[in-house]
Amino acid sequence: MEFFEVLRKRRSVRRFQERPVPRKLVEKLLEAAFLSPSSFNRRPWHFIVVDDREKLLALSKAKLGASGLATAPLAIVVTADESRSDVWVEDSSIAAEHIQLAAFDLGLSSFWVQIRNRMHDDKKTAEEYVRELLGIPENYRVVCIIGVGYPAEKKPPHGDEVFEWDKVSYNRFGEAWKKP
Ligand SMILES: Cc1cc2nc3c(=O)[nH]c(=O)nc-3n(C[C@H](O)[C@H](O)[C@H](O)COP(=O)(O)O)c2cc1C
Repeated sequence: MEFFEVLRKRRSVRRFQERPVPRKLVEKLLEAAFLSPSSFNRRPWHFIVVDDREKLLALSKAKLGASGLATAPLAIVVTADESRSDVWVEDSSIAAEHIQLAAFDLGLSSFWVQIRNRMHDDKKTAEEYVRELLGIPENYRVVCIIGVGYPAEKKPPHGDEVFEWDKVSYNRFGEAWKKP
């Protein structure tokens, strides 16, 4: 698929078919993540591939907005070693988005579940909940979970309404970028 077609057609899907994601495709998703740029090329990330149904169900309860993981056959939990880079959030977020774009290019769909800075309940952070569930060491921060699978819902591609030209300045903030 042409790159801009991938960008336009990738939409967040939160309901999936039962069909598993073939191992070869899982590895392609990880390759896409490993192809990400990172500050000083420090590559602070660590990815946890989850296809265990019980664990996926438990992950779907990590916080509000994670319930789509209950039908996902696959989740990639994106973590980063915060001692390796001061910009681990940026590095791992780019890798997560590479996974989303690659997933769509491979005929899959995905959605992002934010974990960092989110709460599981009144007392526990979503990060603590996921850390305990998957045995993630303390120095690894949990950024997000990408739910992946074959879509069970159809979403229209993005139209031109996403092009917010009023959010672009030219040479100085507030100076309009004029579309010819
Ligand atoms: C940083 C970030 C956090 C997000 N968190 C969630 C989330 O917790 N749960 C969810 O269902 N979608 C989440 N999303 C997906 C957005 O809701 C979605 O990308 C947005 O509504 C645009 O829709 P689209 O992905 O179909 O273009 C998140 C996206 C980003 C980039």
